[in-house]
Amino acid sequence: MKALVLAGGRGTRLRPLTHTAAKQLVPVANRPILFYVLDNLAQAGIKEVGIIVSPETRKAIEEAVGQGSRWGLKTEFLFQEEPLGLAHAVKVARPFLGQSPFLMYLGDNLIGSGIGEFGKAFTAGKFDALILLKEVEDPSSFGVVELDGQGRVLRLVEKPKHPKSNLALVGIYFFSAEIHRAIDQIQPSWRGEFEITDAIQRLLEMKARVTGHVLKEWWIDTGKKDDLLAANSLVLDQWVGRQLEGYVDKESQVVGRVTVGRETQILRSTVRGPVVIGERVLIQDSFIGPFTTIGNGSQIVHSVIEHAVILEGVSIENVDRLEDSLIGNGARVFKDRTTRQGYRLHLGDDSVVEL
Ligand code: DAU
Repeated sequence: MKALVLAGGRGTRLRPLTHTAAKQLVPVANRPILFYVLDNLAQAGIKEVGIIVSPETRKAIEEAVGQGSRWGLKTEFLFQEEPLGLAHAVKVARPFLGQSPFLMYLGDNLIGSGIGEFGKAFTAGKFDALILLKEVEDPSSFGVVELDGQGRVLRLVEKPKHPKSNLALVGIYFFSAEIHRAIDQIQPSWRGEFEITDAIQRLLEMKARVTGHVLKEWWIDTGKKDDLLAANSLVLDQWVGRQLEGYVDKESQVVGRVTVGRETQILRSTVRGPVVIGERVLIQDSFIGPFTTIGNGSQIVHSVIEHAVILEGVSIENVDRLEDSLIGNGARVFKDRTTRQGYRLHLGDDSVVEL
């Protein structure tokens, strides 16, 4: 089976983090989200992957993934000039997909399980669509699915104002070639996009075979800060082991599941896992608490950090306590210890500061 990964779009929801890069490349535990997607495809035995890219994401995605050999995959980049919707992306991919059944995977979705079992169920049941569902608190920001008493799919609506159920569509779908016929019959939605949700609804109306599976493991659509922090915590909690490659001096303590990258120095500090620290990082006279990720080339001096995602090249100095935070590439956070009160800020577009 081929796979189609969607890594186009504008990525506006994670600004300013995604002004320059693609939101699919925002790291979770220091690895781009997209890499977990590709892990999952490879584990399910998929070999050929088409990756949708946009003018904004193309360069960064191509550089990060390359030909896919790291995963034993063969990748092909498919250019979608405008983000006209998920169903539009499938249209763009038609020459790549041909008439084969395929797996479509949104490049910003992260789940706590593999997908092999769903692939088997899809093939064995000769379905036209197998969709994954998950109960969520705020269904109105997702595609929402209604099931009947027997668990059959009755209706799908994209981001309804008054959701009829709490079951959201996870961004992982298995399709037969019937989906192309359905896509040809839909119109753009109120937000001007060709919605895959509408195409699946159309499949139902065409009496095609559509089935839904409720995901037992966690699922995170990493489009927002809190989701990204939650994803970081889950991955650190479940998938990170202990591996120390850098230098830890005698006055420091590194406790529990902590990964420390090459050329990193930990001096007179305590690190309490689960924590991932990248390469060429300096941690000095600081405390790094659980559920924190620190990107390559960052410096943390005389500070306390917990439950935070710090991207690359960040400098944090004399900060008494930084928690539940997401800090973008190259940011500087520091306190001038001679200043008694008042904040001095230098913030980029779309920054958020909670004091
Ligand atoms: O994450 C699950 C949700 O994903 C589903 O519940 C919704 O039914 C589905 O429509 C989708 O909603 P979003 O509004 O979250 O989709 P978003 O615009 O964030 O796009 C998802 C991914 O697809 C993202 O990696 C960008 C990429 N994309 C998006 C569009 C609109 C493309 O590659 N091309 C596009 O045209």
